[in-house]
Amino acid sequence: MTSICESAQLGQFIPVQYHHNMLLDEARMQGFREAIEYVVKPGMKVLELGGGTGVLSLFASRTAEKVWCVERNPALVATARQTFARNYRGKIVEVVEADAFDYLPPEPVDVVICEMLHVALLREKQIEVIDSFKKRYLQKFGLPLPVFVPEACIQAVQPVQQNFVYEGCFITTPVFQNPVVSGTRTVSLADPAIFQSFSYDSELDMRCSWHGTIAATASGTLNALRFITKNILAISTRSQSTIDWHNAYLVLPLAEPQQIEAGDMIAIEFSYPVGAPLEALQPKVEVYSAAIARPRPQVTFQRVAIA
Ligand SMILES: C[S@@+](CC[C@H](N)C(=O)[O-])C[C@H]1O[C@@H](n2cnc3c(N)ncnc32)[C@H](O)[C@@H]1O
Repeated sequence: MTSICESAQLGQFIPVQYHHNMLLDEARMQGFREAIEYVVKPGMKVLELGGGTGVLSLFASRTAEKVWCVERNPALVATARQTFARNYRGKIVEVVEADAFDYLPPEPVDVVICEMLHVALLREKQIEVIDSFKKRYLQKFGLPLPVFVPEACIQAVQPVQQNFVYEGCFITTPVFQNPVVSGTRTVSLADPAIFQSFSYDSELDMRCSWHGTIAATASGTLNALRFITKNILAISTRSQSTIDWHNAYLVLPLAEPQQIEAGDMIAIEFSYPVGAPLEALQPKVEVYSAAIARPRPQVTFQRVAIA
């Protein structure tokens, strides 16, 4: 089998032709525009890591004094340069063709924008890039750290029943779901459980891990887990609210579907390095059925394993 070098893998390398999907994602675009408008004040210096077509740097340029937009894919560097040449205020943005793992701006910055985000923090290198940036930045400039956009992210997992039948064909592939369009293919079997949060100005975990239990709120066929990654793009202390954006949800099929009853306990365990390929997420699921022992309080659980 041919191996693809890490930096050329899908997620970190997004061909220029696919960037319009990100530009068309209204929730993403509006969320980032509002967050950048809220955080970036006149006179500020801004750095964007992974600038792509340059759209987020362009939002920042409307108010900032200076923006550095770092991108390592030469096709996108050329696109970003065209973006800034064609847009008012674009002249204050300097496009730098560089690896975000190495680059530091020539002077301290007030804000760092970084959108290398994938649901479940798989595939893309948001956490590693920000962790590396903070260490190198502190060595060169010391405190204070810039404000990060996004500021934080919260991750959750939810047991679901998923319809994997397409035109009569049963095909269990991972599914990416638009979080703002409510579809009919997914039935919630329990509330989502938060398993991890990252605050970019604090020390960052290099693994996404959880070993926890969720109570089923509905009966059905447990055949998938839905992963949810909510990004806190900015925190408004004025209105005590946040500007949020969810990555596309990931619905991951389980190898052995299981009938469950409301009240059953679903134990879930997984651990994978941040930025790992999708295949690294291999959850173990066990259902503890309370059905045979109802009513409580004499509950004895019967363990049923799901690979
Ligand atoms: C998800 S896209 C976001 C692009 C743009 N910021 C936007 O919001 O439309 C992530 C971008 O980061 C770039 N990228 C990924 N890893 C990088 C690295 N190590 N150094 C510089 N750019 C990188 C990719 O080429 C891609 O353009």
